[in-house]
Amino acid sequence: MKKLLQDLKETSMSAITNADSIDVLEGLRVKYLGKKGELTAILKQMGALSAEDRPVMGQLANEVRESLSSSIEEKRCELEEKMLEARLRSETIDVTIPGKSVEVGKKHPLNTVLDEVKDIFVGMGFTIAEGPEIEFADYNFTKLNTEEGHPARDRSDTFYFTDDDHLLLRTQTSPVQAHVMETQELPIRIISPGRVYRKDEVDATHSPMFHQIEGLVIDKGVTMGDLKGTLDTLMKELYGEGTVTRFRPHHFPFTEPSCEVDVQCFECGGKGCRVCKGEGWIEILGAGMVHPKVLENCGIDSSVYTGYAFGVGLERLAMRRFDISDLRLVYENDVRFLSQF
Ligand code: DAH
Repeated sequence: MKKLLQDLKETSMSAITNADSIDVLEGLRVKYLGKKGELTAILKQMGALSAEDRPVMGQLANEVRESLSSSIEEKRCELEEKMLEARLRSETIDVTIPGKSVEVGKKHPLNTVLDEVKDIFVGMGFTIAEGPEIEFADYNFTKLNTEEGHPARDRSDTFYFTDDDHLLLRTQTSPVQAHVMETQELPIRIISPGRVYRKDEVDATHSPMFHQIEGLVIDKGVTMGDLKGTLDTLMKELYGEGTVTRFRPHHFPFTEPSCEVDVQCFECGGKGCRVCKGEGWIEILGAGMVHPKVLENCGIDSSVYTGYAFGVGLERLAMRRFDISDLRLVYENDVRFLSQF
């Protein structure tokens, strides 16, 4: 039995010394010291010993157990230290390697101009209103004095959802005028930017989706002079103090009188050139005094209140502002193009 114990000690010690991982070491502990391990198996034979030998063997067995346990513990510490070292070595960071630079994005030119326009109007006491892009024909057309049969309602221009043509993608931001008049308290002073949709083929100046900014002011005693002053201020703030504006008679169903607002060509100063197509002026927006019928359609007493309205294409403003010649560039989101602004 003594021999058995000594053999066990020898073989197990060398196995422990050679163990190269915590798992292997744990396997050895179970193999030698576990309940069904080799030492236990030897101890089971103690019963066969004489009363004299028993304590001697018992003591020897205990010594073997203790030295195995302490060797395993020592080895465990050693292996853990090695693992930690290896991990530290593999996880070291070379702080001298150049970092990956983070690309910082910036505002899209449309948003830059939109934010400027908002600031200009908020500075003049306007608030920002929102309206739905899916709209009733009633709001997009009828309330705005564009009765059924009017060419602007044609199916070839408008995206209708229903066969009876009563639901559509708004073709202009003007229906927000009707929503605001019906729901807000007077006086009204709002602008409303948003997407509008028309059945246009994509080219350098057209897109089936684009953006407009609607404006509406209603109060007692509002005149065409207020309209001119406000829009002249807008143009000067956007394009510079020296900007010259022109108000040219026009027709819109929802305003009377109506006008279009042009700015003098920045390129030629009004002489006529390629940019203004020889005109000397560049058309920017439509405007006018809100038609009394529109006021009445929206529940406002036209004998007491007057107002003005305007609608301007955001793309046109931005393209003028940044000298962009093709509308498609604005939507393609090519970073090489956008990073210039
Ligand atoms: N809604 C018009 C359009 O899309 C633009 C417009 C013109 C809006 C005159 C107005 C306005 O509010 O008074 O062409």
